[in-house]
Amino acid sequence: MTTYAKLPTLAGAEPAHVSFTDPDIWTAYGAQWNSGEQKTLQCCAVIDETHDVKTFVFRCADWRALSFEPGQFITVSPIIAGQSVSRCYTISSSPTRPFALSITVKRVPGGTVSNWLHDHLNAGDTLLASGPAGSFTPVGRPAAKLLYLSAGSGVTPLMSMTRASFDMAARLDIVFVHSARTPVDIIFHAELNRMQARMPGLRVLNICEGPGVDTQWAGPIGRLDLALLQERVPDFKEREVFTCGPQGYMDAIKSLLKQGNFDFRHYHQESFDIAVLDEAPLLEQAPVLDQQAGVFTVTLSRSGKTFSMPGNQTVLSAAKKAGAIVPSSCSQGVCGTCKTALLQGTVEMNHNGGIRQREIDKGLRLLCCSKPTSDLVIDL
Ligand SMILES: Cc1cc2nc3c(=O)[nH]c(=O)nc-3n(C[C@H](O)[C@H](O)[C@H](O)COP(=O)(O)OP(=O)(O)OC[C@H]3O[C@@H](n4cnc5c(N)ncnc54)[C@H](O)[C@@H]3O)c2cc1C
Ligand code: FES
Repeated sequence: MTTYAKLPTLAGAEPAHVSFTDPDIWTAYGAQWNSGEQKTLQCCAVIDETHDVKTFVFRCADWRALSFEPGQFITVSPIIAGQSVSRCYTISSSPTRPFALSITVKRVPGGTVSNWLHDHLNAGDTLLASGPAGSFTPVGRPAAKLLYLSAGSGVTPLMSMTRASFDMAARLDIVFVHSARTPVDIIFHAELNRMQARMPGLRVLNICEGPGVDTQWAGPIGRLDLALLQERVPDFKEREVFTCGPQGYMDAIKSLLKQGNFDFRHYHQESFDIAVLDEAPLLEQAPVLDQQAGVFTVTLSRSGKTFSMPGNQTVLSAAKKAGAIVPSSCSQGVCGTCKTALLQGTVEMNHNGGIRQREIDKGLRLLCCSKPTSDLVIDL
């Protein structure tokens, strides 16, 4: 028989003291899911959102409620061709509905995991995923006026935030500006329109690069620029801005906000782009190196493999080029997938929240954002 966890009441909390951005709200619902913890998720439904985007709905295999913050992501690890491959996907559903969680995935041409999910994952299948992570969230950042800016699949974290404030009747003033190639590429188009009709504080604006096959499209055509932003969101400088999309889009957004004298203390962004691998060759392939950065020897303790690498490359990139199999996903120090024990030596690590201090203290490092500052022995 299926049992449902009892939802706790927010005992003693006055409604006026509870807000959408209170951190405690999001752990009150269900079992905490720590970012390092792997759970088995069962796929309950697959929904076609657009011609190249699908939503996969999951529940915990043990029917537990899941707690996460709107805007956070999970790391899924399907077995593809006999190997576990990890990728991050933002939870597009809202933590206010803690028994089912969804990710919304766009097919990437030639991409391993996005295409595998589209072609092979069906209702009833299970998938390993590690717990929610990421700091791209409004939690702990109270603001009554928000501006959400997204492009393409970058809509997912902002959709989770919007769904959460809708479900909580949070009475926020949200302007949601989404950019898509053509009208048929707009993800969550109908649902956002429905929420807008029922939520007085929500205003949705879709901008398309071109009309595509939609001869009825009456919305703006082109790209978001300062003139359009000033016309449609004249108070944009008073808003907390959350933006997500391809790197080029976010560069353009930052530049137009700068032009508009926006105060960047109120700006938050997340990129889905995999970092461009630094293409500096390994020592065996080309001996010309940046002398300032130095050259170091890396030993992989499990395989006994040794290679030399320049100090201006990340250990992940060099290890992959040397033929090592290293689990990785974001390449930005966000997801924690490449966390590995450093047994000897020192690195300079510039992470983005994918590792905790206590893990660093134990000798773990994120290889995707670590550059050697001495010879290394790593647990690979
Ligand atoms: C925090 C975070 C949240 C994310 N949330 C979402 C989300 O909600 N929805 C979503 O759709 N995506 C999201 N992503 C992106 C997602 O994690 C994957 O990067 C994306 O799905 C592509 O993965 P893939 O395995 O299909 O492609 P990959 O196999 O990783 O390939 C990506 C691209 O690189 C090319 N490529 C691969 N290997 C090489 C190579 N050696 N040389 C040259 N080119 C190569 C491929 O052809 C392809 O074009 C998120 C990413 C991050 C970091
Ligand atoms: S691959 Fe995500 S933290 Fe290194």
